Amino acid sequence: MNFEELFKSISPRELPDNVFTLVGKDLAVLTAGKADHYNSMISSGGGLGMLFAKPSTWCILQASRYTLELIQQENTYTLSYFPDEYKQQMLFLGSKSGRDSEKMKEARLTPFQTPAGGMTFTEARLIMECQLTAITTPQPDDFRAQEAKDYINEVYKDPNEYRKFVFGEITHVWVKK
Ligand SMILES: Cc1cc2nc3c(=O)[nH]c(=O)nc-3n(C[C@H](O)[C@H](O)[C@H](O)COP(=O)(O)O)c2cc1C
Repeated sequence: MNFEELFKSISPRELPDNVFTLVGKDLAVLTAGKADHYNSMISSGGGLGMLFAKPSTWCILQASRYTLELIQQENTYTLSYFPDEYKQQMLFLGSKSGRDSEKMKEARLTPFQTPAGGMTFTEARLIMECQLTAITTPQPDDFRAQEAKDYINEVYKDPNEYRKFVFGEITHVWVKK
């Protein structure tokens, strides 16, 4: 089947899911790269909203993530959401880094290229493709809440653990037909 036979393009405003379920409860598979080399990880925080008048997503990624490296190379990425039956396959993508493993070959999911060139999987039920807008590194003094300050101070002991806030414009949304 080709992409358009499996997925229907919708506008971000037609998103059928509750935002706090998508971000707070569901797992997102973040994928960057091209068909010949791509990598995925699980991302569980972040959000959806408007940035510079564009529908956008934001994720909080540890600086060492290999997927982040590919996002910076390509400037595009996808966020894919799956039916619950694929939970084990999703968690596998969050269990080890693709930087030093053959994780993507071992993942029991079927890679699929979107018409815009991003990588996702045929098993996904919802896909958001994003164009990288900004990557920022929050500083401890940016935070007012003590809990957030303590957390940032703790993770900033090691540069590899720095949290990057990754913002992307949503360029396409597809749902399973
Ligand atoms: C449930 C779950 C949620 C996760 N959420 C995040 C997240 O929001 N940000 C992050 O940097 N890592 C998160 N991770 C960890 C990465 O998915 C994991 O380290 C992954 O192996 C990184 O892969 P990569 O180095 O191949 O990109 C999460 C892992 C799990 C299991």
